[in-house]
Amino acid sequence: MDVLLEVQDLVTKFDTFDGVVHALNGVSFDLEDGEMMAIVGESGSGKSVTMMSLLDLLPKPAARIAAGTALFNDGMQTVDLLKLPESEMREVRGGKIGMIFQDPLTSLNPVLTIGEQITESMMQHLMVNQSEARERTIRLLEQVGIPAARHRYKNYPHQFSGGMRQRVMIAIAIACDPKILIADEPTTALDVTVQAQIVELTKNLQAKLGISVIWITHDLGVVAGLAERVLVMYAGRPIEKALVDDLYEHPQHPYTIGLLGALPKMGGVSDRRLASIEGSPPDLYTEPTHCQFAWRCSFAFERCWQEIPPDINVGYQHQIACFYDVDRGRPREHG
Ligand SMILES: Nc1ncnc2c1ncn2[C@@H]1O[C@H](COP(=O)(O)OP(=O)(O)OP(=O)(O)O)[C@@H](O)[C@H]1O
Ligand SMILES: [Mg+2]
Repeated sequence: MDVLLEVQDLVTKFDTFDGVVHALNGVSFDLEDGEMMAIVGESGSGKSVTMMSLLDLLPKPAARIAAGTALFNDGMQTVDLLKLPESEMREVRGGKIGMIFQDPLTSLNPVLTIGEQITESMMQHLMVNQSEARERTIRLLEQVGIPAARHRYKNYPHQFSGGMRQRVMIAIAIACDPKILIADEPTTALDVTVQAQIVELTKNLQAKLGISVIWITHDLGVVAGLAERVLVMYAGRPIEKALVDDLYEHPQHPYTIGLLGALPKMGGVSDRRLASIEGSPPDLYTEPTHCQFAWRCSFAFERCWQEIPPDINVGYQHQIACFYDVDRGRPREHG
């Protein structure tokens, strides 16, 4: 499979009055053509900042990308998103890479009709005139399950329910035939039934359109039925990457094991939602010099306090950043 997006060692910092926030401390991952990948992690772990770094959406000058590359293959050429001039980034953002955010009310423009918002984006990114864009938009609204689309086209955002607005957001995100769709916690504000419908819709669209999806969530239950691969973030870095089934059956990073509430001794996965783990999240004001999970980790030993664990392979498409081997119950013997 072709790799669409290859992110390597992304480091993002914020300069604030209180000091430097080390928000991302080396994010690396690949996204393949047509795959559905999930990113999970507790609040503040850097999920949104990762995506916003890639799309140049962070507030400047506070935000600073200190290192990294993000090679994006748009089918014609490969570009480094982190070095793209703003004019080219505008083509990518909302064009080749579509996005859905958590709160559709703040992302939709209240003074424009739903139809206007979608056609505007189409005319900006695709070579279509107004009437073509209008017909396309109506088809698109039907595709995302908006009933009476031709009539609803003329409605304003406040005339839609939360679930319907989220469908409109999806329509906007896929309006310009993106290669990648980034969905940042798109269902957290919705009730469970509507959540399930949005997940189902995204899965169907992904299969039909063949796009790659990055789905960001707190909810490991959602991930199970949705993604093929999952990335677990902690303190601004993925600490475990695995195929979804593998992650549930055999989590290897102590943090993930804690999240899944599946300590090896007990066996089995008791609850698929994020369990809360003792201790507060890491202090991002200090530049990491050792494992950021060490002081919440019951397996931590000397080395964990001295070095930052690199990503190591622990199985097929399975990587962790940890010095401890939970299966053997002892430190790992590697370089
Ligand atoms: N504009 C900013 N200025 C300073 N710090 C920021 C800014 N934006 C984000 N951060 C910090 O960067 C870190 C990562 O934030 P991010 O929004 O990526 O978390 P997240 O994983 O998306 O969390 P959530 O699940 O709550 O959405 C947090 O510690 C956050 O406080
Ligand atoms: Mg977020």
